[in-house]
Amino acid sequence: MKILTFAASNTKNSINKALARFTATLVPGAEIEILDLNDYDLPIFSQDLEKEIGQPPAAKAFFEKIGSADGVIVSFAEHNGSYTAAYKNLFDWASRIDQKVFQGKPTVYLSTSPGPGGAASVLASAKGSARFFGVELKAAVSVPNFHDVFDAATGRINEPKALADLTAAAEVLALQEVA
Ligand SMILES: Cc1cc2nc3c(=O)[nH]c(=O)nc-3n(C[C@H](O)[C@H](O)[C@H](O)COP(=O)(O)O)c2cc1C
Repeated sequence: MKILTFAASNTKNSINKALARFTATLVPGAEIEILDLNDYDLPIFSQDLEKEIGQPPAAKAFFEKIGSADGVIVSFAEHNGSYTAAYKNLFDWASRIDQKVFQGKPTVYLSTSPGPGGAASVLASAKGSARFFGVELKAAVSVPNFHDVFDAATGRINEPKALADLTAAAEVLALQEVA
């Protein structure tokens, strides 16, 4: 099962990327591909620019990556209660190819932050709009206090509740192959 994994963030050492990567390892039999949003460099979306340049190759490449996956794990970083500008921009460009950006792929949404909020605000926002964008949402997990629960040496989440929630989410995603 090909699992596409990325952080909705362009931070080089993104904690959301670490969380998404770890969660992908919990999907039984997963073949993991990790995207970095920095590889999808795009100008700020505007309808005027779109008229000039059409659909940029980076937006098409991102859309096609999702299309080629059996499942998706995305972990949302929270900036001022919402999406990072980098993700929102890429998403806006991709949505002009097809509003169903996630193309019906079974998907797990995650979020984390260093603080106790666990980026729950952006996660709630993403969950609330998932149905408009072709997301077959299987589970959503927010992990608060990332640096307290993540072991940087092993790349694993060790806190029992978070680990249990992430394992359950990963297993739901793996069930897709059987169905
Ligand atoms: C501009 C900005 C706004 C932020 N706003 C929030 C916020 O609203 N809630 C939150 O929990 N963390 C916030 N943070 C802290 C991020 O959670 C933290 O930088 C985290 O590492 C981002 O995830 P990433 O490493 O995956 O990019 C903010 C950080 C920045 C730079």
